[in-house]
Amino acid sequence: MKTYDTKTAMRDHVMALKRNGKSVGCVLTMGFLHAGHMALIRECARHVDEVCVSIFVNPTQFGEKDDLDAYPTDIKGDLTQLKAEGVNAVFLPTPAEMYPEGADTMVDVPGLSGILQGKIRPGHFTGVSTVVTKLFNILQPDVTVFGQKDYQQLAIIRQMVRDLAMPIRVIGLPTVREEDGLAMSSRNVRLTPEDRIAAKVLNAALDRAEVQDARDLSTETLRSLVRETIGKEPRADIRGIDIRDATTLTPFYGPLDRAAVILLSVRFGDILLIDNRIIGPGKDSL
Ligand code: PAJ
Repeated sequence: MKTYDTKTAMRDHVMALKRNGKSVGCVLTMGFLHAGHMALIRECARHVDEVCVSIFVNPTQFGEKDDLDAYPTDIKGDLTQLKAEGVNAVFLPTPAEMYPEGADTMVDVPGLSGILQGKIRPGHFTGVSTVVTKLFNILQPDVTVFGQKDYQQLAIIRQMVRDLAMPIRVIGLPTVREEDGLAMSSRNVRLTPEDRIAAKVLNAALDRAEVQDARDLSTETLRSLVRETIGKEPRADIRGIDIRDATTLTPFYGPLDRAAVILLSVRFGDILLIDNRIIGPGKDSL
């Protein structure tokens, strides 16, 4: 397995693959890899000859420096996992390599970036779409796989790829969960033991909503059900329970006559966790 820390070296590797007629995929990460990241790599490998993985904790998508500094890292552990997975090439740039002195251009998808998580974390998604564009330009993938765990991020990347005519197929992969249902996330290690146990209420609430799905419930009733389930957990500090059109993320009112997504944003102590579930007719064809 080779690691590259400069844009030119990484691009040379990809160009050599393409010259040999190979298709290239990429999975973009901020490291501290878990089984969710590995599932993205495995899915990507089904569609291309070689999957390149990037590990870069992107400073422009963090609002507070504290949050950036607290982001967990384990490069050695990450590389061991990637090697075991059979990955050939890893891109590990420094912040200065990604944002040289004087870098100014940002990529913005203002409609989708200003709502939901974008309201809680202003500027976050502009940082994401900018770094993803840069990484796409360096890795030049034919296919990329993103997790549905970060549902709004996936919607923004799809929109950006469409709007900017990027020749990339974007695949969304269902959320990989811990045994008790908690969505895997690099943030989970920052939960206290009590909060870690309490956090399983998110998946439980989504499961409960999904079971109701078949009945003729309005989204308002569904939202109350979710709020009631999470509200029973005193450690959970609800920041957002939103039911949106699964494709456009516009507000969803009335009966479930098409696919919707329930988006949760809940704090446990200092840690903001997100989770979601697609429900309603047509949810399996998204
Ligand atoms: P990161 O949080 O490391 O996530 C990298 C990818 O892994 C994203 O596509 C994310 O949705 C996916 N992922 C995370 N947890 C998952 C889970 N439990 N199941 C399935 N997929 C999961 O998302 C980012 O990094 C950054 O914003 C990035 C896109 C790399 C830009 O900096």
